[in-house]
Amino acid sequence: MLIFAMESSCDETSASICRMGEGEPQILTNRIASQIATHALYGGVVPEIASRAHTEAISSLTREAFEEAGVTPADIDAVAVTYTPGLVGALIVGVNFAKSFAYANDLPLIPVNHIRGHIAANYFTHPDLKPPYFALVASGGHTSLIHVKSFTEFETVGRTRDDAIGEAFDKVARVMGLPYPGGAEMDKLASLGNRDAIKFPSAAIVGENLDFSFSGLKTAVINYIHNLEQKGLSYSREDVAASFTRTVEKSVCRKLGDALELYGFDTLVVAGGVSANSHLRAALERFAKQKKIRLCLPERSLCGDNAAMIAAQGYYEYMDGVRGGCDLNAIPS
Ligand code: KG4
Ligand code: ZN
Repeated sequence: MLIFAMESSCDETSASICRMGEGEPQILTNRIASQIATHALYGGVVPEIASRAHTEAISSLTREAFEEAGVTPADIDAVAVTYTPGLVGALIVGVNFAKSFAYANDLPLIPVNHIRGHIAANYFTHPDLKPPYFALVASGGHTSLIHVKSFTEFETVGRTRDDAIGEAFDKVARVMGLPYPGGAEMDKLASLGNRDAIKFPSAAIVGENLDFSFSGLKTAVINYIHNLEQKGLSYSREDVAASFTRTVEKSVCRKLGDALELYGFDTLVVAGGVSANSHLRAALERFAKQKKIRLCLPERSLCGDNAAMIAAQGYYEYMDGVRGGCDLNAIPS
């Protein structure tokens, strides 16, 4: 079946058309209009500007998607849309557009959870992947360890108690004067630094839990920088990026190890914007090899927000009978 999907939960408007359910899932088009350049002027996402930019982009992006896929609305079987979680004003734009599109073309509407979508990006990269498995979602807004019991049954077993992992990357990057969002820049800088140069506190919360605290780690890094700056001393941005990233890797692998002991899973799926980080990817590869489990990572182009991942999860929600009506609303969290 052909699914037309929309994503507008944060600062990327995306429209995708995917063929699902017949052989391997196929992305016919996955158009993304990024607002990063606009928000970079303010050092972070400005919700009001995001909503307006989604409204401006959504119609032309949809037209481009249909042109690129070489199909018409009459070929589409269902419409999937992100309805939660995210910025409410941003979500509403996609939800209302998808509702109108579904209504006008007499198509079923499928509400999709953004976090489930991130995980589902892996079905394109690993077509044989099937639940049950464990997933780590690491993005700008979320850090969760999730037991994926079936394609539509999820149990969150660990989470951050404060900042998301991507948020910590972005805030450290900002203090070092890197442009928003700093995650990708931090990735490059970390390659040039000494991973053992500075000792930062772990983000893995001590005790019998699978939770993280990235706020403490972030504050420790920022204090380190401010301390030196106040004394008029310089510091190596490369070493800070490398040591911070190393601490993130160790914290993540520590809790994944605890989760493995508790749940004994054989497949680990990683998703979300931060799963594009080359050092984290390498650390997870080492972890999976050492623990003799399968590791699935999405290809880099599918790590960040995109609508193809919403089409993939939308397909399984559709098969499970999930439908949205004209009263479908955006739910921020
Ligand atoms: O999944 P995503 O596109 O949006 C949310 O759902 O939040 O994730 C965006 C986050 C940002 O914090 C960004 O800095 C981070 O992913 N990110 C990275 C890298 N690429 C994107 N963080 C670390 N290393 C990267 N290579
Ligand atoms: Zn996301």
